[in-house]
Amino acid sequence: MKAYQITGTNGLDSLQPASLADPIPGSGEVLIRVRAVCLNYRDYMNVLGIRGVTGPVPRTPCSDGAGEIVAVGDDVSNLKVGDRVVCPFMPTWLDGEFSQAHASQALGGAVDGLLRELAVVRAESLLPVPAHLSLEEAATLPCAAVTAWDALHCRGGIKAGETVLVLGTGGVSVFALQFAKLAGARVLAITSSEEKAAKLVELGADAVCNYRTNQAWDDWALAQTGGRGVDKVIEIGGPETLNRSLNATRFGGHISLIGVLTGTSGEIQMVQILRKGIRLDGIYVGSRAMFAQMLAEIERVKLRPVIDSTFEFDNAHDAFRRIESGKHFGKIVIRV
Ligand SMILES: NC(=O)c1ccc[n+]([C@@H]2O[C@H](COP(=O)([O-])OP(=O)(O)OC[C@H]3O[C@@H](n4cnc5c(N)ncnc54)[C@H](OP(=O)(O)O)[C@@H]3O)[C@@H](O)[C@H]2O)c1
Repeated sequence: MKAYQITGTNGLDSLQPASLADPIPGSGEVLIRVRAVCLNYRDYMNVLGIRGVTGPVPRTPCSDGAGEIVAVGDDVSNLKVGDRVVCPFMPTWLDGEFSQAHASQALGGAVDGLLRELAVVRAESLLPVPAHLSLEEAATLPCAAVTAWDALHCRGGIKAGETVLVLGTGGVSVFALQFAKLAGARVLAITSSEEKAAKLVELGADAVCNYRTNQAWDDWALAQTGGRGVDKVIEIGGPETLNRSLNATRFGGHISLIGVLTGTSGEIQMVQILRKGIRLDGIYVGSRAMFAQMLAEIERVKLRPVIDSTFEFDNAHDAFRRIESGKHFGKIVIRV
């Protein structure tokens, strides 16, 4: 089969095409023909080896993919050849508490990911793709969408009428906007350009601030809430944004700490956290059970993920260049 592998630490050039043996499913496993893979910022960091995100090489990157089952191993009763399926980010985290053991099985991290034609996966981890979604759309869901769902619903317990602040227009934030609006929340968003601001409004954002022209977006968010502060923040920036997120959050509010786009360490105004009784929750994607709950809602309302662009398998580097550019809005897909 055709695949890509990270071969070293030579920037995007370390991503190399490879020809690998076709895998064979064992007991309790199925073989998937991967049809679409979707990029997350993490995949880009993995390929570049930046911010300490490294792993063994050679290794196939990318956690997110969807495809069809082409062979079924022994002792598999719930799936059959031809089924359209999507695979969770951590295939062993079926339900219950998060653990290091599950984190170590995250696809495209320490173990091979899905940027390849064929993959063997534990049958118990797979989920059926809702009929209204293409496999390209389904491939956008395992990391970014489940993370946004976990942040808002599982950890956040979002309620209608609350105000959610989303940062930027990447995969996680756009899903968070969609899920928050579905939950009946008001959404404030910040972004880097007027063009992206217009797209956010089209998607349902109630108010948008350009953080390039108005760096005091925390004060803007406070003003938008009559000085009270937002109920929830989808925090994807890290050290350069967290203090403003803390300032923008109401007493007793909730911040989902999801991303570290601006670095991994910095000075944090800890007093704000305790003085305002803010819940600061580290989020790491979510379980298969959360994924299933999210899929049921996506199916119920026929929600469609926002795809920025789609690239062919042979042009995978261009997909990584697109995420590197920061010009995208929503998800970047690679057709396999
Ligand atoms: N913990 C988890 O489970 C989890 C899961 C998924 C992702 N993540 C992390 O979350 C972050 C976002 O991931 P993603 O896949 O959604 O990324 P992405 O699709 O690459 O989106 C990144 C977007 O963030 C915005 N941004 C960048 N710097 C910003 C800043 N200083 N302030 C506000 N917005 C900024 C930009 O949008 P604009 O141009 O609109 O500003 C940029 O396009 C990454 O750090 C990723 O590793 C974590």
